Amino acid sequence: MIITLDGPVASGKTTIGFLLANKLYEIYKKNFYFLDTGLIYRKYTYLFLYQKVTFNTKEPTKDLDYFRNLLVTNITLQEFEEKTKYLFTEEIAINTSKLATKKKVRNYLNKIQIELVDLKNVVAVGRDSGTVVFKNADFKFFLYASNYIRAIRRYNQYKQNNPDILKNLSFHEILIRIIKRDEQDKNRKYSPLPDVNNLPKDFILINTDNLTIEETLNKIISYITAKNSL
Ligand code: C5P
Repeated sequence: MIITLDGPVASGKTTIGFLLANKLYEIYKKNFYFLDTGLIYRKYTYLFLYQKVTFNTKEPTKDLDYFRNLLVTNITLQEFEEKTKYLFTEEIAINTSKLATKKKVRNYLNKIQIELVDLKNVVAVGRDSGTVVFKNADFKFFLYASNYIRAIRRYNQYKQNNPDILKNLSFHEILIRIIKRDEQDKNRKYSPLPDVNNLPKDFILINTDNLTIEETLNKIISYITAKNSL
């Protein structure tokens, strides 16, 4: 089963997607993997910027090892966040959004994602997971939250996991950057982030403004279990 969870910056995709994969494992007693495709784009940027890697764009399968450890299962959220913390700098975020506009980069990373997932049960989160990469997904969700709520969540996330970042970054600046990055993701030519007011018909919209993590998860799970007996 493939489940996609797309949405704007800081909409809670990573936390919800991660917990969803764990819950589905409990419900269906089958291994469910979690793939945060934003991390794939961030890791690409990290390798490109800091390690000057030359990618095998013609044969992406040769590069799978760079990305393999981003497809996870049987790991706690805390371990996962610790492992990927180095990819959450503002410099990486801003450059990732720029590199992600390039068709060549997207084609390459689409292949990487498809190869990684192969035939596994997966919860994939991102911007174009349901529209482009996993078009045939069994369930396609879109997580939405207003700009202000997302900025508060991102601020609290930094405070908890990366407090040093807040020395040079105000709440207002976080809000502005979220809006800016969304604009970039929504307006790019290739695989733009879908518009919440004009979602493809097969998407299920989940507005998380007034929902806790637990409530959001339960809502998503109820859609899945109502339709699916794996
Ligand atoms: O989700 P996250 O904020 O980690 O993603 C970082 C950036 O990677 C996004 O702003 C977006 O530009 C890009 N991205 C993308 N397509 C995806 C996932 C992420 O373009 N499927």
